[in-house]
Amino acid sequence: MDKFPAILPPFLILFFSFSLSLSDGYFTGNSSHPGLTSQADSLCAQLIEPNGYSCAEYIVQTKDGYLLALQRVSSRSGDIRVQQGRPVLLQHGLFMAGDAWFLDSTEQSLGFILADQGFDVWVGNVRGTRWSHGHTSLSETEKEFWEWSWQELALYDLAEMLNYINSVTSSKIFIVGHSQGTIMSLAALTQPDIAEMVEAAALLCPISYLDHVSAPLVLRMVAVHLDQMVLGLGLHQLNFRSDVLVNLVDSLCDGHVDCTDFLSSVTGQNCCFNKTRMDFYLEYEPHPSSVKNLRHLFQMIRQGTFSRYDYGILKNLLMYGQFKPPAFDLNSIPKSLPLWMSYGGNDALADVTDVQHTLEELTSNPELLYLENYGHIDFLLSINANRDVYDHMIGFFRMEVEASPFDRGGKFG
Ligand SMILES: *[C@@H]1O[C@H](CO)[C@@H](O)[C@H](O)[C@H]1NC(C)=O
Ligand SMILES: *[C@@H]1O[C@H](CO)[C@@H](O)[C@H](O)[C@H]1NC(C)=O
Repeated sequence: MDKFPAILPPFLILFFSFSLSLSDGYFTGNSSHPGLTSQADSLCAQLIEPNGYSCAEYIVQTKDGYLLALQRVSSRSGDIRVQQGRPVLLQHGLFMAGDAWFLDSTEQSLGFILADQGFDVWVGNVRGTRWSHGHTSLSETEKEFWEWSWQELALYDLAEMLNYINSVTSSKIFIVGHSQGTIMSLAALTQPDIAEMVEAAALLCPISYLDHVSAPLVLRMVAVHLDQMVLGLGLHQLNFRSDVLVNLVDSLCDGHVDCTDFLSSVTGQNCCFNKTRMDFYLEYEPHPSSVKNLRHLFQMIRQGTFSRYDYGILKNLLMYGQFKPPAFDLNSIPKSLPLWMSYGGNDALADVTDVQHTLEELTSNPELLYLENYGHIDFLLSINANRDVYDHMIGFFRMEVEASPFDRGGKFG
């Protein structure tokens, strides 16, 4: 892992730092087999195959030219080419990538568990993360490469990944999202052409509204307009491994916010993840994102909206034909689309009040699982998440499978 040094200041436990670098050296596609890659430096080779699981990687091109990596994982006994189970797409959160679902043991990590349970597991990686493969014409050193927010992640990246899985499997797809992966899912599901590819969605730390975020360091970043400070430095990539950003965050903490437990000051108090594995987690997290994405998220926190990116009145008029950016209407998510959500009492990002707001706007009644002592990261990394969360989620998926039998005649589980 010497390519991604994990030597960070002690306060910087997980997440965060801005830079222009960390761009070269990521693998490129296998030109003799377009769409399929087989590099030693891939997520398959690093985390999934060493645990005995079959894994294949595909490259998916978005409408706006980004090349995303999509891994397909099957159980230790299974063969990737004769997948039987229903496809599930795992969509990671902000500053993370597909590795987030495979960081603990095979009994603890959702990606492995779903594969063992016979699901056809597909792993999403959005643009800008280390596993994605760049862009057809833009380089990561160019400002234009970073000209996107979660809006594009929802409408281009998620849509294209679903499209690809749908065309390979001829099946509707289960989505599992965490955090920003739920923002992407909820925004995408308001679009009828995307929703029709989805069988059901399971959302961990569901987010559409963000105006009750309580994480002290996040609130301070919003208050000091960190997004504008960073743009002022000429940066467009958000990379929390760079010195510039580490220093900036350090100065925000100094005398203002207690950042001795950095992760808690950003995500809330996590009850149950394995702190002795922190160095290992840091080999993979954080992944880069764009400054524009951070700006969009800050707009949600400041304005209490779940809308498209706000360019300001004049450019909004140009882009959208109206002064304010159009909202994503949660009530246009089909009532017939089954939803399952799990959220935590100690989550300082997906606040319970905001989750309630989301629920009020949906036309359906999602199945809910509330865990009082869970923080934002526990839903991915808790040592008990398999029993606390994933068993319920898989039960929900199995009910949906029974309600709509697989039309390819495949066996399930
Ligand atoms: C490309 O794929 C072929 C067939 O899977 C494989 O033999 C070859 O080693 C791959 N090339 C690279 C550069 O990974
Ligand atoms: C926590 O992580 C350590 C180091 O990887 C591992 O040895 C231990 O088994 C883990 N504990 C649990 C409860 O998973």
